[in-house]
Amino acid sequence: MTALEQPPVTAPRVGSAGSASAGSLVPTLPGHWYTDPAIFEAEQERIVEAGWVCVALSADLAEPGAYRTVQVGRESVVVVRGRDRAVRAFFNVCRHRGARLCVEPEGKVRNKLQCPYHAWTYDLAGKLIAAPNLTQMPDVDRIGYGLVPVAVREWIGYVWVCVAPEPPSFEEEVMGAVVTRLGDVESIDHYGIEGLALGRRISYDVAANWKLVVENFMECYHCATIHPELTEVLPEFADGYAAQYYVGHGAEFGEQVRGFTVDGSAGHTRIPGIAEDQDRRYYAITIRPGVFVNLVPDHVIVHRMTPVAADRTLVECDWLFLPEVVRSGVDLDRSVELFHRVNAQDFAACERTQPAMSSRVYAHGGALVPSEHHIAEFHHWVQARLA
Ligand code: FES
Ligand SMILES: [Fe+2]
Repeated sequence: MTALEQPPVTAPRVGSAGSASAGSLVPTLPGHWYTDPAIFEAEQERIVEAGWVCVALSADLAEPGAYRTVQVGRESVVVVRGRDRAVRAFFNVCRHRGARLCVEPEGKVRNKLQCPYHAWTYDLAGKLIAAPNLTQMPDVDRIGYGLVPVAVREWIGYVWVCVAPEPPSFEEEVMGAVVTRLGDVESIDHYGIEGLALGRRISYDVAANWKLVVENFMECYHCATIHPELTEVLPEFADGYAAQYYVGHGAEFGEQVRGFTVDGSAGHTRIPGIAEDQDRRYYAITIRPGVFVNLVPDHVIVHRMTPVAADRTLVECDWLFLPEVVRSGVDLDRSVELFHRVNAQDFAACERTQPAMSSRVYAHGGALVPSEHHIAEFHHWVQARLA
């Protein structure tokens, strides 16, 4: 989409030798990295299932007993808020004979999760509390045969889970991405995202590999070509470099622009906690592998990406505003429309690219221009995890 949200890096040579050579152009990954089911499977295992995945808005699980069934790589996970208001996550696998416990994408239970097959029943902390004839099996360890927990964190108003047996440091992997981009975690805290309310949610089904979506978000070389409305609001995006090659830079609104809206008209009430130098600016953060956070003075846009096949990625996008703005019923369309258009423009570009990934002329990949060289660091990151 938009932001060159990475600091400058010396791009490593990646991929196999192609037509691109050292100098202005740096090679991309070879085409089959975007089509090969074996590579996709390895990415699911070693990237998605090995790291922290943002699976839900905390407010989607506001009440005790509210649950969501989410896909994390190849695993199904149930995320549920307990009576104690803590959010917990479990593998969606019944400990009896493996039936999927929850099949609905979301729902609400009173105080237990019951398997629809033979009725093994678990409390919201995962303990096995009932099963037909369980009293006649006193040796069954009700904790040991409880649901298998998944690591869970709540941060910036979202629920994050990690299905790995030994999760990596949340501080380094997730918060570290914010520090890399903004210089510190406080800069995102100013937006008080956990206190914002959902104004709009739009889901996109993108016929493209998830890496094309990430790469697109990381560069602005395409902004002048495909994002007329965005470059109107953020004129510095039109030059492709966006002057964002250093930590902490946010793209400045154009002089005549009154708000981050599709026509540059005024937006909504400014988030009170933001610093003076965050006003009239747009910041973008990529939290690998699948979260993009966009910060503007009066709202925050969060993209969450779920890779479902080598050539298909689901993206859920939330627009968050101050609760009083959402409560007031004021028309949010002009704010939402700007990034909805950007999303549609970006995803169309990704879908236009995907079919060529299997072309013989793209077998060795393509080229990154200097304003895209930092994408090679992303490629290097993916390759290192699959090595
Ligand atoms: S598989 Fe769940 S109760 Fe039998
Ligand atoms: Fe874009």
